[in-house]
This record gives sequence, structure tokens and C-alpha cells, in this order.
Amino acid sequence: MTDVEAVRAQLAQARRVCVLTGAGMSAESGIPTFRDAMSGLWSRFDPAQLASEEGFRADPARVWAWYAERKQGVRDAQPNAGHVALADYGRRRPGVLTIVTQNVDDLHQRAGWPQTVRLHGDILADRWLEACPRGLGCAITHAQPGEPPACADCGNLLRPGVVWFGEMLPEDAIDAAERAARDCDVLLVVGTSGAVWPAAGLARVARRAGAKVVIVNPQASEIDGEAHWLLRGTAAEVLPRVLDEG
Ligand code: OAD
Repeated sequence: MTDVEAVRAQLAQARRVCVLTGAGMSAESGIPTFRDAMSGLWSRFDPAQLASEEGFRADPARVWAWYAERKQGVRDAQPNAGHVALADYGRRRPGVLTIVTQNVDDLHQRAGWPQTVRLHGDILADRWLEACPRGLGCAITHAQPGEPPACADCGNLLRPGVVWFGEMLPEDAIDAAERAARDCDVLLVVGTSGAVWPAAGLARVARRAGAKVVIVNPQASEIDGEAHWLLRGTAAEVLPRVLDEG
């Protein structure tokens, strides 16, 4: 039996499957990853300046413009064969699949899995930097155009709705992710370097709870030691092979 056949058999019989995705999931849709040596965003840009509250406060216009470009990239991108294979598998097997993503794009949702658990927020959903100082709640309709837009009443700034370094993950999302990792029979990890916590810890949580762990990645990752099967290939190639019917 090949590894692909063995993983297909696991996925066909599992009662609960958790899928953890990272930037590699969307790479074949044209969205850059973070840590790939040549093409990764963090090989060209400094995360301290562009992905932290401190960096935003130091130069809001620069950070806003950088995210504006990335937002456009997300809007222009389409789900790839991997996103589609996951959503199709979930629809064929009601109640089995939980997708947990570190990605801030909406490609799982657009492929047909709106209930995707988002650990790192949503790049298309801006929010206010501060709680409204007047206690009234700044209204998005009061945002004055600008880079970034500011509240017409109090000057509060809009910021992208992603989780930056040093910030807590949304509590409901990390709770749902940990539950899914603990309860699954198979954890499928796709396209993550395993460098960022707590997401990277979900593989160990699942394995300790008795799940089979499968990693899909063309390169080595920091959590390969947790895997029962390492499938060396890309998301769009490998996921249809392990998930599609027939
Ligand atoms: P990374 O950029 O750290 O890792 C991307 C992984 O995807 C690498 O292991 C690549 O080998 C793999 N990869 C590349 N192309 C692939 C493909 N076509 N198919 C499958 N895998 C492929 O991205 P993440 O692990 O997601 O934080 O990074 C975690 C977090 O760090 C991100 O969510 C982001 C970043 O700072 C936030 O946005 C808050």
C-alpha cells in the first residue's frame, strides 16, 4: 500500500477529521507564503514593522498600504483544487470535517466551507485600533477616507482584522481548534511551517489524543516529528488524490 492509499483509507473511515492549514494551502492560488526562502513575505519585509501593533502605530500609512496590496491579492485569488477537494469531502461526509486555518484569506470559505475556524483573523474585515474613547462605539460609516481611515468623531484609526505578533488569538477560535484536534481520528496538516504557536501545537495535541497525523508539504516543517505520514507534495496536487471519491 502506498502512503497515499494508506491516508485515503484513514480519511474514508474517520469519524472526525481536523484539517489545519497554513500559507502553503493558498500558495497555488497566488497568495505568497511567509517563510519560503525566496518568495516568502518575511524574507522581504520585517514582521516587526508590518505585523505588530507597535509597527502600525509607528507608521500607520505604510502598514495600511501594505495590507491594502495584500487585500487586493486575496480578492483577485481563486480557491485552488486543494480548497475545493476539502470542501467537497466535508459536504460528502456531514459532521466529519473541521477546517482550522492560520490563513487570513477567505479561500476555504469561497470554496464552500464557510464554517472554517480562523485562528489569525480575516484580512478583509477591518476593525478599530482602540475601543471608542467616547464609549459610544465608532461606526464604520463614520470612517473618513484616508490611509488608514479615521473615525470622523474621535480620530480612532482603522486597522486590518488580522492577529499581529504579540496579540492573543480569538478565544472562541483557539478553543474550537483545540477541541477539534483533541477529538479527531485524523489530523491533516497542510502547508504550514509549524513555526507559529499555538497553531503549531495542535499536531501534538491530536497525536497525544490518539489521532493519526498526516502532513502535506513539499518541504520539511518544524512539526514533521508528529506525523504518521509525510506526503511530500503541494496542496493542490495531493489533497484531491487523498480526498476525492473514486
Ligand atoms: P509559512 O510561510 O511559515 O509556511 C508555509 C509552508 O507552506 C512552508 O512549510 C512551505 O514549505 C509550505 N508550502 C509552500 N508551498 C506549498 C504548497 N503549494 N502546498 C503545500 N505547502 C506549501 O506559513 P504559515 O505556517 O501559515 O501569521 O505561517 C504561520 C503564520 O505566520 C501565518 O498565519 C502568519 C505568519 O506570520 C499571521 O498572519 C498572524
